[in-house]
Amino acid sequence: MFELDGRVALVTGAAKGIGAHAARLLAAAGATVVATDIAPSGSAPPGGRFAQQDVTDPDHWDRIVASIKAEEGRLDILVNNAGMILNKPVLSTTIEEFRRVHAVNVESIWFGVQAAAPLMAEAGAGSIINLSSIYGQIAGPMQAAYSASKGAVRMLTKAVAVEFGRAGNGIRVNSVHPGPVDTDLGRSGLEPGVTAGRFASEAEAKAYVASMFPMGRWVETQDVAGVILFLASDASRYVTGTELTVDGGYSIL
Ligand SMILES: NC(=O)c1ccc[n+]([C@@H]2O[C@H](COP(=O)([O-])OP(=O)(O)OC[C@H]3O[C@@H](n4cnc5c(N)ncnc54)[C@H](O)[C@@H]3O)[C@@H](O)[C@H]2O)c1
Repeated sequence: MFELDGRVALVTGAAKGIGAHAARLLAAAGATVVATDIAPSGSAPPGGRFAQQDVTDPDHWDRIVASIKAEEGRLDILVNNAGMILNKPVLSTTIEEFRRVHAVNVESIWFGVQAAAPLMAEAGAGSIINLSSIYGQIAGPMQAAYSASKGAVRMLTKAVAVEFGRAGNGIRVNSVHPGPVDTDLGRSGLEPGVTAGRFASEAEAKAYVASMFPMGRWVETQDVAGVILFLASDASRYVTGTELTVDGGYSIL
């Protein structure tokens, strides 16, 4: 049920971090993976290809989906992974910064759903996987704009899941909610604590965060990629509108 032979996947924000790992894992499961990023280059997953795409630009979405239709012929899986964080107090965050976070984290998914769903529906099935965060479920400290955006991803996912379920187009839509992951984005959340003098160094802050996980360590990209594979595959074929938390128990304390 985890096999993806013959399936085509689009993974955004796949030049590094969670997206790069998910792209490799989906390819290992048999999918042909188109990995995209705003970065001009990134490694192509085995058997797939890399393309540049800014997820905030609807024209880029139309172009990438048209190229997938022309080159791969179908689209079964969309991983809306590209995202950004802002570690800033609410009172010093500008409306431009707030809007940028929402453009990258929320509008991207709006455009992605609109661009990809018609091609997915042609095959009568599909899986859309949206990267939210535990900070779409609980409050992110010094992350008002980020938390608001990830909460929006959570409810956008559920609303679209209901709509597509009732439409009978076969497309499932789910969100994934990692706790702090050991990536550039995850580690950037350590900065405010070091700057404010709560921790002597980033290493000390990192160890403190690790101690907050009941399971004792940061989330690794592989932990998230495995859940993405589950949601992409037939193993989750009757799962839609759900939120899957991947945090070693971090948010249940
Ligand atoms: N790292 C964490 O602690 C953590 C926790 C919860 C959720 N997440 C979410 O997981 C996703 C991936 O995070 P990550 O930790 O791998 O981050 P990362 O910073 O390692 O990688 C993010 C990738 O997205 C790309 N990107 C940024 N803006 C883009 C744009 N406009 N168009 C296309 N690509 C763009 C970047 O170039 C980068 O390659 C994000 O949505 C993030 O919010 C991360």
